[in-house]
Amino acid sequence: MIQTIATAPIAGMKPGTSGLRKKVTEFAAGHYLPNFVQSVFDAVRPQAGFGGLTLVVGGDGRYFNREAIQTVLRMAAANGFARVLVGQDGIFSTPAASAVIRQHGAFGDLILSASHNPGGPDGDFGIKFNGANGGPAAEKITDAIYTRTLTIDRFFTTDTADIDLGTLGTQEVERMQVEVVDPVADYLALMRKLFDFPALQRLFASGFRLAFDAMHAVTGPYAHAIFERELGAAPGTVRNGTPLPDFGGHHPDPNLVHAKELHDLMMSADAPDLGAASDGDGDRNLIIGRGLFIAPSDSLAMLAANAHLAPAYQGGIAGIARSMPTSGAADRVAQALGVPCFETPTGWKFFGNLLDAGKVTLCGEESAGTGSDHVREKDGVWAVLLWLNILAVRQQSVQAIAHEHWARFGRNYYTRHDHEDLDSAVANDLMQALATRVLGLAGGTLEGRAVAIADDFSYLDPVDGSVSKHQGLRLVFGDGSRIVYRLSGTGTSGATLRVYIERFEADPARHRLDTQAALADLITLADRLAGIRDRTGREVPSVVT
Ligand code: G1P
Ligand code: ZN
Repeated sequence: MIQTIATAPIAGMKPGTSGLRKKVTEFAAGHYLPNFVQSVFDAVRPQAGFGGLTLVVGGDGRYFNREAIQTVLRMAAANGFARVLVGQDGIFSTPAASAVIRQHGAFGDLILSASHNPGGPDGDFGIKFNGANGGPAAEKITDAIYTRTLTIDRFFTTDTADIDLGTLGTQEVERMQVEVVDPVADYLALMRKLFDFPALQRLFASGFRLAFDAMHAVTGPYAHAIFERELGAAPGTVRNGTPLPDFGGHHPDPNLVHAKELHDLMMSADAPDLGAASDGDGDRNLIIGRGLFIAPSDSLAMLAANAHLAPAYQGGIAGIARSMPTSGAADRVAQALGVPCFETPTGWKFFGNLLDAGKVTLCGEESAGTGSDHVREKDGVWAVLLWLNILAVRQQSVQAIAHEHWARFGRNYYTRHDHEDLDSAVANDLMQALATRVLGLAGGTLEGRAVAIADDFSYLDPVDGSVSKHQGLRLVFGDGSRIVYRLSGTGTSGATLRVYIERFEADPARHRLDTQAALADLITLADRLAGIRDRTGREVPSVVT
């Protein structure tokens, strides 16, 4: 029976960049989850209601995933959806859900994940709505959802029993069909179309070795099915391949801190040919060649320069988009290819319009996100497959490809320093004072460096004309070097200050290997300008990538 439950807005509920992320203890308490789900449904309900429409539901397997899915299923039925496609055992990676929306003409999805944030009873939980194009909802929709959370006074649910998420096939909740589907099948079919699987099978048959770290998160089942079973990579290629509710107690963030074991392996004498990892919900990627970490900004540029070697992109790419803090390495490739390069604010949702309009084919962010027009999310396993396809065709090592790339395009030295869990008031004060400082530098010089741009980044979407302001303080010097500061929008405790530092070096003879050393002057300048040490008392960043 459909029930209408009275509720009241919950203080402190606010969607993050494209969804809601909180401690699982908050999510599981009272009406927190139902309030948010109903706010989404109220904000996106078409005039004619949800009749005839399909919703895709799944998550990254973290603690509270299954319970939350049962709640969402009951509420979807009570809100009048005709059908839900849910991944077996409640599993869908974020990019796979995007693919399923597009493949089945679904209305959208609800993905239960807090991405790369830790899980478990004391960890984080999250929920995000993607629309019919398979991408994160645009700002005007997330704003409407947020506005609704402020006035929500009732939600709809049913008194039906839990669905058996373990058994493939169709069940019913009230009059809604629930199809429990294999979370890998549609995604695998799409990857087969994009890449030269026979060539990849030959690559692995010839002895090529891959180490893929699924970090006990959602990509385990995808990686086992695709790399080991489909492409013939040796058993053991996939590490930490079983999704666990607490990610084995680790932080499922594929960076050099949290994927240290993989990094150490790749720097060892017995390193395999390619090391890769993905995050909690499978949208991020880490790429490490034998003895060489490929920074995400470089990976985007190298993939763009070589994408035509994979069947999906053999006709060339329409353009590239990168987030503002991502290095300019991709811009140089775009220029060489004669295609546009768009600079967007941080967050995948800004790529959606450009992809939908066919203006770009590849997109990427410095935060280990790379993707293409095949879905509307960044896609970790896809990035590894594109690298593999390129390696199979070029028959060279990752190192050789990287060095040839830098010799041809020059090298953008790049680093990001994160200061995590700062007192929010301290972080806000710092940014406010810094804004005045940075804006005052426009047209002037700083310690002998000519300042070319000093602003708070603002983006005009070329497709829908919307403007997004206050997207990061940007200081660009005459030689193209940059310092960018912004506060994270995805953290769940305190504030995180991110400082992005970049310098271009055209001369291959001067390509020193140590990134931090190559950027030392700018790193010191960035700290001094913002007064990070003085204001936060932090001697060193929490994470350096
Ligand atoms: C971070 C990354 C950003 C990415 C987002 C979601 O956001 O910096 O590039 O799109 O996670 O994965 P931030 O915490 O910086 O707001
Ligand atoms: Zn993620």
